[in-house]
Amino acid sequence: MAHRKFFSLLVLTSLLSAYASCSSLEDHSINVSSAMESQKSALTPTDDQKVNLTLNYETLNPDSAVFLVKDLKGVFDNDLITILNLRLVPWGKAYTNKSDNATLCQNGPDECYLNTIQACAIDVWRVVDKHFGFIYCIEFLVIEGRHKEWQSCFSTWGLPQKPIMDCFNSGDGKKLEQKFGNETRHLSPPLEFVPWLVVNNQPIGKDYENFAVYVCKAYKGSTVPKACQSVHWNPKT
Ligand SMILES: *[C@@H]1O[C@H](CO)[C@@H](O)[C@H](O)[C@H]1NC(C)=O
Ligand SMILES: *[C@@H]1O[C@H](CO)[C@@H](O)[C@H](O)[C@H]1NC(C)=O
Ligand SMILES: *[C@@H]1O[C@H](CO)[C@@H](O)[C@H](O)[C@H]1NC(C)=O
Ligand SMILES: *[C@@H]1O[C@H](CO)[C@@H](O)[C@H](O)[C@H]1NC(C)=O
Ligand SMILES: *[C@@H]1O[C@H](CO)[C@@H](O)[C@H](O)[C@H]1NC(C)=O
Repeated sequence: MAHRKFFSLLVLTSLLSAYASCSSLEDHSINVSSAMESQKSALTPTDDQKVNLTLNYETLNPDSAVFLVKDLKGVFDNDLITILNLRLVPWGKAYTNKSDNATLCQNGPDECYLNTIQACAIDVWRVVDKHFGFIYCIEFLVIEGRHKEWQSCFSTWGLPQKPIMDCFNSGDGKKLEQKFGNETRHLSPPLEFVPWLVVNNQPIGKDYENFAVYVCKAYKGSTVPKACQSVHWNPKT
């Protein structure tokens, strides 16, 4: 990793001097903060260098809730999120009865309801940090057996309730869920259980707690996040 850091330093230095020599033609001040800004964006992985990480889950499934709260949240605490296109797909093994369009969920009607609420949150708050925070809060309550108090998560994060309830009540949430259902049914290889983690189209099966290792291996960008410099296998025995 040391030579990579050295390389970034070289790039930084040459960018700064290129910037300095250009701007000194016009005026004699070097706007370092602006040079640092363009340097930062040059090193931030572009969307197509990022790794696609998709969590297929069921909102009331205990393993899904624990994974999301205990493991997945970590990507926001370290810098792994900077190389991720993280998507949440709350459907799992739910099933739609073609003859009456009713959805049946593994963990009952409350799960169908919360899957739909979370689908709405993902759609309304596109930025992943925002909907992840809300969903994390609900899954935390699920672990504590208090999922019926999920509406407290609006005030926990200072988020407005109206857009989510509008999405649910208008039937948009149901349409979003049907899309997630279709996407999940088309997974190849198919989903076997939840949580089902897919890294760039490749499911990682039972080893989901080690997802960071797969993400770091799949990453092709030049800026290696700190999180990838310290990952190691933690095999299940
Ligand atoms: C330097 O660049 C930053 C970011 O582009 C800008 O906000 C700031 O006003 C600039 N400062 C000067 C002195 O030009
Ligand atoms: C699907 O819906 C029809 C009509 O409501 C019902 O008769 C049937 O039992 C349902 N199938 C399943 C698997 O729930
Ligand atoms: C089920 O939903 C689909 C898509 O929203 C719709 O095209 C179809 O007419 C619905 N079927 C029934 C029986 O309501
Ligand atoms: C279902 O998913 C497949 C594969 O992702 C996609 O090609 C297809 O257009 C989807 N169908 C609907 C109705 O969204
Ligand atoms: C990630 O997903 C996007 C959007 O679905 C796709 O265009 C891109 O090719 C994927 N990247 C990889 C590395 O699979």
